[in-house]
Amino acid sequence: MRISAVVLAAGLGKRMKSKRSKVLHPVCGKPMVEHIIDTLEQIGVARTVAVVGHGAEEVKAALGGRVLYALQERQLGTGHAVMQAAPLLSGEDGITLVLCGDTPLISAETIRALIEAHRGGGAAATLLTAVPDDPRGYGRVVRGADGGVERIVEDKDCSEAERAIREINTGTYAFDNRLLFGALERVDNNNAQGEYYLTDVIGILRSGGHRVGGIAVSDPLEAAGVNDRAALAEAEREMRRRINLRHMLNGVTLIDPLTTYIDAGVTIGADTVIYPGCHLRGLTRIGEDCVIGPNAEIRDSAVGDGVQIRHAVLEEAEVGDRATVGPYAYLRPGARIASGVKIGDFVEIKNASIGEDSKVPHLSYIGDARIGKRVNIGCGTITANFDGFRKHVTEIGDDAFIGCNSNLIAPVRIGEGAFVVAGSTITHDVGDQDLAIARARQSNKPGYARKLRNKIQNQNNRI
Ligand code: UD1
Ligand code: CA
Repeated sequence: MRISAVVLAAGLGKRMKSKRSKVLHPVCGKPMVEHIIDTLEQIGVARTVAVVGHGAEEVKAALGGRVLYALQERQLGTGHAVMQAAPLLSGEDGITLVLCGDTPLISAETIRALIEAHRGGGAAATLLTAVPDDPRGYGRVVRGADGGVERIVEDKDCSEAERAIREINTGTYAFDNRLLFGALERVDNNNAQGEYYLTDVIGILRSGGHRVGGIAVSDPLEAAGVNDRAALAEAEREMRRRINLRHMLNGVTLIDPLTTYIDAGVTIGADTVIYPGCHLRGLTRIGEDCVIGPNAEIRDSAVGDGVQIRHAVLEEAEVGDRATVGPYAYLRPGARIASGVKIGDFVEIKNASIGEDSKVPHLSYIGDARIGKRVNIGCGTITANFDGFRKHVTEIGDDAFIGCNSNLIAPVRIGEGAFVVAGSTITHDVGDQDLAIARARQSNKPGYARKLRNKIQNQNNRI
């Protein structure tokens, strides 16, 4: 039977107190609603309709062509939201899943179990419920004598007795598609919030003589609906726990999972060790046998095998096998570090390639540069890449040696095997195998140190 899905993502989420649409708030680096779409793709749902409204353009930009869209111009409630998908879905036979864009922790296994239960139970609708420690804020599930679900009562509409019910609606459902859209036409907004509730469909189906099933999710954490920033932080913590567990089971050592922050889209090879205080963000890829951290922040970067990175920030950078980075290095977008390279302390690299086995060991800025293999960049070397108007390129050939504290004024080319003497300010190209020296000649004045001291002392005595 064909399975479609509707994901509700049109609400502003007032309780977030945010300018941004709630479902776009990230959990472990990924918008909440995208976690839901990922899960639906894992299950192989035939077609997903996202109902968008608040921040529709931003939500569409985040999800792109992965889903179909229905626009809910005014946010009149979850039932009204599902109605907006009617032109795309209502005439068909099959199962329609409905999920909220603010429940990012629901797993694929749980949705599979919901579909199984729905198919097996022959119900018009099957509800995913949970029994959390604190049911406040959620719709309560009222069950009949036969154990079937009778109706759902929203927290704000509950009587005292209903409020005491601990089984809650997770906002995740499997429906018979035709019966869903039929029942939605009968939903009104006669309730505490003046909204068209999707949850009323349950009671409507029941009073029409249909069966409604409900299965409880085994881990109530999965059910968490993120309505405010406190719930956002809790969802983040749970998602982080799962992500870290997955990496550990894949052979990655996390010295302290509680202080290791890995985004959902990150991959890490086996036998890599991650020390505390690391933030691996975006689409970062880390190879095998690396030692990362303590305290590395790595975003959207590709790191090879056997790499060591300590106390460093990497953004959109590439680091080849066996390279070492840090402590206190900053690799900015376009830094391409080849295998075996050493990037040492207080080094900043931007939009520059550093060839195999080269070394930039201390206190350098290398920007807009192409550096060959086995080059040694002495301590304190700077590429002066900016003339106040444009950026210019520095090129350094294989096996060149750049002495300490050199200024390379771009555009400039240092040839292969060339030698730049320490303290030089290089403004002209240096040929292959040439030596360049560009600094004032030293002159010594014998015994003058004492004379100078006396002179300064006499001046001070006069004041
Ligand atoms: C909803 C359920 C509640 C359940 C809880 C689970 C209803 C009436 N209530 O309550 O029973 O326990 O989820 O987390 O369904 N949305 C729209 N358009 C709208 C209104 C909401 O697209 O007009 C979207 C929101 O963006 C959100 C989702 O629907 O992703 C749920 O809406 P929300 O207001 O958070 O519902 P809850 O009060 O949490
Ligand atoms: Ca909610």
